[in-house]
Amino acid sequence: MTIPEFQRHKRDKKKLIVVTAYDALFTRIVEQAGIEAILVGDSLGVVVQGKSNTLSVTMDDMLYHTKLVAGAAQRAIVIGDMPFMSYQASHEDALRNAGRFLQAGAQAIKLEGGAVVVDRVAAMTSIGIPVMGHLGMAPQSVHRYGGYKVQGRESDHALVLLNDAKALEAAGVFAIVLEAIPAELAKTITEQVAIPTIGIGAGPHCDGQVLVLYDLLGLFDEFVPKFVRPYAHLKADALQALRRYKEEVEQGKFPGDSESYH
Ligand code: KIV
Repeated sequence: MTIPEFQRHKRDKKKLIVVTAYDALFTRIVEQAGIEAILVGDSLGVVVQGKSNTLSVTMDDMLYHTKLVAGAAQRAIVIGDMPFMSYQASHEDALRNAGRFLQAGAQAIKLEGGAVVVDRVAAMTSIGIPVMGHLGMAPQSVHRYGGYKVQGRESDHALVLLNDAKALEAAGVFAIVLEAIPAELAKTITEQVAIPTIGIGAGPHCDGQVLVLYDLLGLFDEFVPKFVRPYAHLKADALQALRRYKEEVEQGKFPGDSESYH
């Protein structure tokens, strides 16, 4: 998968499938499932690092995980998520940090925000860095919203988001993530921009969907938003396996003869 191929999916009316991954093991599994776009999301702050939000994730954290994913990916495009304060403070920081993701093996970066980041995005795309936008519920602004809340329900805010999407498109983003916005607004945005929209909690009309891998697999159950559908229950399976292992060691049933050397 290349960035132009990713974009062609919209023209060809083929749904784009994106998941997050943070390490080599899951990257290989994701690729074996035929998924060709991987986001190294700053959601790792929550699902890997155990924090309550993504704000403490650093560039070093993101580059480490990006290297693991990019090192294992053979076909998928790898998109590195710019963490909080890696692009907000200055133009120069933003450009340099975006470049570091590409040096770590990512093909593209993602950043959150609309009109306020348009200049940064234009500077990145002008030097050849593919950028994915992220509108709607932007997790790095969680404190401003007062929690993880659906965005764009009122018509004036919906209009701001539509204009943000158009401004990001004009600045050269190759796709936009739409997170936690009404399905009708996501449909309008999807119809009014030529670039793919990738929804998460944005209904079925987007050009593609993205989910956090550990949510999709039922591994992370501390906070399950309405838009998540767990396609497996790996936490329950892991618990069952670990409890059986403990029990069988305690009862002298493991290891058995076939698991022993002679
Ligand atoms: O960090 C992340 O995983 C994300 C996706 C939820 C879009 O931004």
